[in-house]
Amino acid sequence: MEYILSPSLLSLDFAKAGEQIRQTEQAGAKWLHIDVMDGKFVPSISFGMPVMKSFRAVSDAFFDVHLMIEEPERYIDDFKAAGADGITVHAEAVRHLDRTIQQIHDAGCRAGIALNPATPLETVTYMLEKADMVLLMSVNPGFGGQKYIPYVTQKIRSLRTMIKAANVKCDIQVDGGVNRDNIWKILDAGANNIVAGSAVYKGDIADNVHYFNGALSAYQKKSPM
Ligand code: DX5
Ligand code: ZN
Repeated sequence: MEYILSPSLLSLDFAKAGEQIRQTEQAGAKWLHIDVMDGKFVPSISFGMPVMKSFRAVSDAFFDVHLMIEEPERYIDDFKAAGADGITVHAEAVRHLDRTIQQIHDAGCRAGIALNPATPLETVTYMLEKADMVLLMSVNPGFGGQKYIPYVTQKIRSLRTMIKAANVKCDIQVDGGVNRDNIWKILDAGANNIVAGSAVYKGDIADNVHYFNGALSAYQKKSPM
């Protein structure tokens, strides 16, 4: 199992996007988390394909695209063309989840399923074999800089138990309100892929990336696989 940090570009200073993306990668981040919002599935609107393409022009990192949009199946190929390496869709925004995951794989991307905090884990029971990752939202999606919802820790634990019992390879990504204090209990609970926005881009980017990567590599060393 690989332990990975995925800094969320939503917290970038967009006037300095290219420079801050380079700093993030130089500090050792291998993934970048790209939050796309449509103003319908979530209250806010962030950015779409053209902005992502401009990120792609300055970065070779793995682009971990989190689609917070209704009927994301309409845009899978467009996001692939804009540079996505992985695409995560919300179970709540999709009618035919199995088909959409297949569509993401057919586009040549890793496929993730995101669940809002209150959405039960049973939603993904039959998809654990097909999905590469389950993203557990630890805030209500729509904005950076919110507070981690404590009951999600138990949800991470239960999902790790489900994945072990099913004997499949599926990453657990946790997104929302992750900081230097709570990352340890999130990793303890069984997450292996961490999104952090404000905790990376507030203050010194390199120092923040080093801190999170330090925590992740400590868990990597303990990992059996
Ligand atoms: C929230 C987004 C998150 C957000 C995380 O809707 O999906 O990726 O940018 O930001 P922080 O780490 O500040 O909660
Ligand atoms: Zn996100």
